[in-house]
Amino acid sequence: MGRHALLGEIVSRSAKELANHGAELGKLVTGGMVIVLAGPLGAGKTTFVQGLARGMGVNTPVTSPTFALIHLHEACPFTLVHCDLYRLQSEEEFEQLGLWEYFAPRYVVAIEWGQAFLAGLPENCVQIDILPSGEQRLLRVSGENTTALEKWVRSCQS
Ligand SMILES: Nc1ncnc2c1ncn2[C@@H]1O[C@H](COP(=O)(O)OP(=O)(O)O)[C@@H](O)[C@H]1O
Ligand SMILES: [Mg+2]
Repeated sequence: MGRHALLGEIVSRSAKELANHGAELGKLVTGGMVIVLAGPLGAGKTTFVQGLARGMGVNTPVTSPTFALIHLHEACPFTLVHCDLYRLQSEEEFEQLGLWEYFAPRYVVAIEWGQAFLAGLPENCVQIDILPSGEQRLLRVSGENTTALEKWVRSCQS
């Protein structure tokens, strides 16, 4: 769970639907938004970011940043910063990554496995916990209650 209240739960029955949920959020993102994606390997974190990128107007392919750790995808008006912190071992390594540079209005940051480093992330970050059960995924969204997030959760539930 994130450090804020649970805003809502969303169900996804396929990878395609999960990506579409991501795309809907991508259309509503605001500058400086930081999204933490938590959940086991194969939960659908990267799949979600692929949709998020599509919704933000990203044209470059989104792949897992397992080795580079940070991938930048330029789009208008925001550049998507996609990170995967799975391989990070310590707070020190996290600091060396210099992610803070991207906590700025021209970026939207999506961080797979970011939940271990919440102390180094903006207070108002959004956390999406993806809980798999067979082909189904339960998304638990927590964060500060903003109009955009509320709208997104509602649109995915309908
Ligand atoms: N409902 C679902 N939502 C998301 N992915 C699903 C779902 N059902 C099956 N999958 C599969 O699970 C895998 C998720 O992979 P990926 O997005 O790379 O996960 P992660 O980044 O969390 O490790 C994909 O192979 C996808 O096809
Ligand atoms: Mg991944």
